[in-house]
Amino acid sequence: PTNLVIAIDGPSGSGKSSVSKAVARALGAAYLDTGAMYRAITYSVLDAGTDLSDAAAIATAVREAKLEISVDPDHEHVVIGDTVVTDAIREPRISEQVSAVATNLEARAELVRRQREIIATNVRIVAEGRDITTVVAPDANARILLTASEEARLRRRGIQLGGTQDASALASQVLERDKKDSTVVNFTQAADGVITVDSSDLDFEQTINAVLDAINTAA
Ligand code: C5P
Repeated sequence: PTNLVIAIDGPSGSGKSSVSKAVARALGAAYLDTGAMYRAITYSVLDAGTDLSDAAAIATAVREAKLEISVDPDHEHVVIGDTVVTDAIREPRISEQVSAVATNLEARAELVRRQREIIATNVRIVAEGRDITTVVAPDANARILLTASEEARLRRRGIQLGGTQDASALASQVLERDKKDSTVVNFTQAADGVITVDSSDLDFEQTINAVLDAINTAA
C-alpha cells in the first residue's frame, strides 16, 4: 500500500480539528490531533503541581510522560499516565495554560519526535496542528494551511463553547493564545509549497471539499 500523509495547520477557531477529522474519514485515514498532546502534557504538569515557569521541569515531564492518543477519527481517547483526559484537556484552564508547554523548545522537540513516530506507523494519516506542514511532516504528500478571518474564528469558537461566553473574554482568550503560540511556530503564513484554504466564507461541507480538492492537487 502507498503511504499517504496529509499535514494540516491553522490557528484556533479555523475549524482545523473538525475539518481534519472529516477529511481523514473521507480518505479512510487515521487522524492525529497534535494539540491534544500539548494539552495532555499541560494537564499532567498542572496535576503534579509543577510550576509552569519551571522550563526544565516541564521538559522532564514531557520526556517521562506515558502518553497515549487514539488515531481513530471516530474515537477520541487521550491517556496520560493512568488518567483518561479526553474531556479534561478541553477545559478552559488547559487552553489558558497550554502555551507554557508549547513555547518550551525541549518539550516541543520531544512531542515532535513522538508525532513523527505515530505518523510513521500509520499507512494513511491526517495530522493536524501548528507546525505539521513545516516541522513535523514537511515532506507530507499534501500540506495545507487552513485559515479564517478573525471574525469567523471568534464566531466558531464561541459556538463551540456553547455561546455563553462574554464576547470580549472570548476574543482575548483566542487571540492571546494565538499570539503566544506564534512566538514559536508560524501558522499564519503558508510556507513554500503549502496550500492555503481560507474557510471564512465557507460552510463546513464546503471547507471539507476545498481541503479534499487541495489534497488532490498536491498529492
Ligand atoms: O489545536 P489546539 O487548539 O487543541 O492546540 C492546543 C495548543 O497546543 C495550541 O494553542 C498550541 O499552544 C499547542 N500546539 C502546538 N503545536 C501543535 C499543536 C498544538 O504548539 N502542532
